[in-house]
Amino acid sequence: MGYEADWTFNYFGPTKVIFGVGMISDLPLEVGSLGKKALLVTDPGIIATGMADQVEAMLGGSLAGVYSDIPQDTGIDIVDQGAEYARSVDADVVVSLGGGSAIDTAKGICILLTEGGNLKDYQGMQLLTRPQTPHVVIPTTAGTGSEVTIFSVVLDKEQGQKIFLFENYNIPRVAILDPKMTEKLPPGLTASTGMDAMTHAVEAYVSQQRNPISDGMALHAIRLINTYLPQAVEDGSDMVARGQMQIAALIAGWAFSNAMVGMVHAMAHSLGAVCRTPHGLANGILLPHGMRYNLEEIPDRMADIADALGVETRNMSPVTAGEAGITEVEALVKRIGMPTTLKDAGVKESKLEQCSELAVTDGAIVYNPRFVMDPEEVLEVYRKAYFGGD
Ligand SMILES: [Fe+2]
Repeated sequence: MGYEADWTFNYFGPTKVIFGVGMISDLPLEVGSLGKKALLVTDPGIIATGMADQVEAMLGGSLAGVYSDIPQDTGIDIVDQGAEYARSVDADVVVSLGGGSAIDTAKGICILLTEGGNLKDYQGMQLLTRPQTPHVVIPTTAGTGSEVTIFSVVLDKEQGQKIFLFENYNIPRVAILDPKMTEKLPPGLTASTGMDAMTHAVEAYVSQQRNPISDGMALHAIRLINTYLPQAVEDGSDMVARGQMQIAALIAGWAFSNAMVGMVHAMAHSLGAVCRTPHGLANGILLPHGMRYNLEEIPDRMADIADALGVETRNMSPVTAGEAGITEVEALVKRIGMPTTLKDAGVKESKLEQCSELAVTDGAIVYNPRFVMDPEEVLEVYRKAYFGGD
């Protein structure tokens, strides 16, 4: 599998996971064990579903306030304002209810509540030296994995770029995966967030920083997503499919929190910053093209991915198997009704050059299995994803 005798790694994934339909009922117990006054961080879409009301009622007297001024991609200003509000209501524990944007906002607030200052002061890697404000996450999508990862991704509007925080001390303490809380996610968002999780799993499995623990999680996540994502898209009330997707997103999150991701994420981050393309949508469209770019570098790994996707690979060479796996990913994207080209996703061709320049400066690209530094090469991959075809 490509691991040498002198090779070392460490694995870190300390989040307590509570899973099951109705298990949201454990929220007051978990919050009570971590603090006295809880700030609820959520977004306007979740408030419209009535789920925020449900959580507020469960928190009762321990609810300090609600911060819901959160757009599709959270920003530095959003986090700074949220922390100011959290301080004004004396919150000592944070509960996030939502997708990646709400969870990452809450992660930022947790740091500012403990350390003070502005979010920009903490841009970077492992800068914190002590545990941060406790955070309980209730995901309403199955994709980001942010409920268990070291990452927060936040838009810097002034620079037109997404900034990253990587902090072991700021991983959420508890993740409550209640499939019921993802039931109202519409089919389009179910599909795109699910493909975000698939991209985490595939990129973690081929990453330069992969390890055997992340390998196992990534391959199992690929199997689960391939099986259950079409079901979850087709029937949002299917609690088995919703639950399995939540588990897949979570273990893919653990995998890439340790192994990191690669060029597909670098390119999706750049499209998000320049064109506001939703993260999961960009990843789902770009993934087969990124896999094709990397195939010759890691054919055995790509064959394993094909195997996890249900391809009969026994009589195939690794490259042929890898190609069959890529075709399988393309078929999945079609089956779940997502756009298959950047053009269909509303991206402007004229922006691709700017995105390519940005993508080669993105932290994720460092872990890509094939060395990539030339924006021209990235542009070629963007063009393939823009027009379709291989
Ligand atoms: Fe992602």
